[in-house]
Amino acid sequence: MTDEQARAKLQAAEQEHLLAWYDTLSEHEQYDLLEQIDALDLDLLDVFRNYKQNGEPDRGELAPMGALTIPEIEQNHAKFETAGLDAIRQGKVGAVLLAGGMGTRLGFDKPKGMYNIGLSKPLYIFECLIQNLIKVVDQAGAFVPLFIMTSEKNDEDTREFFESMKYFGYNPEYIHFFTQDTAPAVDADGKILLESKSRIATSPNGNGGWFASLVKAGLLNFLQREEIEWLNVFAVDNVLQKIADPCFIGATILSGCESGSKVVRKAAPEERVGVLCLEDGKPSIVEYYEMTPEMTTSRESDGSLSYNYGVILNYLFQTKKLTELLHNQLPVHIVHKAVPYIDQNGEKIRPEYPNAYKFESLVLDLIHLQDSCLSYEVERFREFAPVKNAEGVDSVISAQELLRRNGVAL
Ligand code: UTP
Repeated sequence: MTDEQARAKLQAAEQEHLLAWYDTLSEHEQYDLLEQIDALDLDLLDVFRNYKQNGEPDRGELAPMGALTIPEIEQNHAKFETAGLDAIRQGKVGAVLLAGGMGTRLGFDKPKGMYNIGLSKPLYIFECLIQNLIKVVDQAGAFVPLFIMTSEKNDEDTREFFESMKYFGYNPEYIHFFTQDTAPAVDADGKILLESKSRIATSPNGNGGWFASLVKAGLLNFLQREEIEWLNVFAVDNVLQKIADPCFIGATILSGCESGSKVVRKAAPEERVGVLCLEDGKPSIVEYYEMTPEMTTSRESDGSLSYNYGVILNYLFQTKKLTELLHNQLPVHIVHKAVPYIDQNGEKIRPEYPNAYKFESLVLDLIHLQDSCLSYEVERFREFAPVKNAEGVDSVISAQELLRRNGVAL
């Protein structure tokens, strides 16, 4: 893109300020900035205007959704596990690690998976995940292809770390990295922020675009050639995450559902988790802040909460369905965050409080595009130890405690 083209693109969207320092930049920086402007998705500015005027769109009609409960799973354990192991042995299952997030709440300046959660010896979050996956590989006697999504911000560190750690014993031939897209941040007036005179302030665009990014990286051919039918998508931060869990896979396949989601019984009505429910008759995830007080406290005749099952970011999707959905636009959510930027004098500002809006699509919105979803209950203390915060709830300390309870040496 030439500088005239860039100026025209920006003028049309009232964003010319991005070129304020253009004439002072080196040739290389100018080129770099023009590339960024070329890649800018300015439609996001309409999303922002709409959000400012109307807020988040209204939800459809919500209704509770039950789950396949732990006792029901126990009763059918052998049958489910056999079906899942068969699928893994036939090479039909892949796993997708979502590791593109910024992990700002943890406040660790490297990719979250590089965090050392060990006490007497190093135990990295990535290591916990790979060890969990290796258990399944040993049980099935077959490797599960693992796709790792990074972002521009952490791709190099992540790849180098895995290499230096010899992939924690996983066969690197079965590991495929790909990088997600980024989106710009805007201020309250919808002006795109600069993080330096030659760089637009961007951040990873949420975990919802993972399949599109995987396709962009040329991996769809691989999925199709290898006949990988199911993808188990999971978050980096849950150190008890069971990956490619044969019982979950088998139960989902045998249920005939298009997708599956692991869920945990809510610890309390007000627990801050997204709940799997029905929206206009289709599976959907409603966030805790979107629920009315009546919904939050409503109970069924057996005394259990009506909206009882929280998601833990461990889903099973079918490659075929995801491919069909590729051109469906996921909702873009606007999140208010603290984003470093340069002001009109070129001074770097590092705000302590949210000053900017970021654009994110979310993997949980993919659930509402499925005709059906098996809600599969798991035991919280065995499978859910998220490392989100440095202290307090869902922190390093709480995850360490849960690892210990599950017999992991720290
Ligand atoms: P979180 O919602 O916890 O976001 O991500 P985060 O960016 O990691 O952490 P905070 O909010 O800044 O503290 C849930 C999962 O989705 C991945 C994360 O890596 C994590 O596994 N994710 C999130 C992405 O892969 N890309 C994104 O753009 C955002």
